[in-house]
Amino acid sequence: MIGRLNHVAIVVPDLAAAAALYKSQLGAEVSDPVPLPDHGVTTVFVELPNSKIELLHPLGEGSPVANFLSNNPAGGMHHICYEVEDIHAAIEHLRNEGARVLGDGKPRIGAHNLPVVFLHPKDFCGTLIELEEVQRDDPVSQMT
Ligand code: CO
Repeated sequence: MIGRLNHVAIVVPDLAAAAALYKSQLGAEVSDPVPLPDHGVTTVFVELPNSKIELLHPLGEGSPVANFLSNNPAGGMHHICYEVEDIHAAIEHLRNEGARVLGDGKPRIGAHNLPVVFLHPKDFCGTLIELEEVQRDDPVSQMT
């Protein structure tokens, strides 16, 4: 069901320092910080040849990553995002398998303007999983 690894999200205490680390020490291509007020984060996108890393920092009141940062002051991996072709079919399949979809269980529009849901970390080896509906024309995403 899941397709490509779309991104790994890392919450960081200092976005500029983290961006510099990825740029200088790891030699990656990094974006300027992008404020996403609707999602309560500022993001730096790190482009890799086969995927992305998203460096996240809380933005505004009630950021969904604020608690994570206070529990992990040095930062840490927050979630991984897998692509699915049909998010409603994925949700139905997961419910039938007994997995918990977070929130009201309905997809919402994520940071890339595509429908996403999050799955309970306790059901997936302690990892918060984001599923994002991505339509691709190439055969890699056809793997089921
Ligand atoms: Co994400």
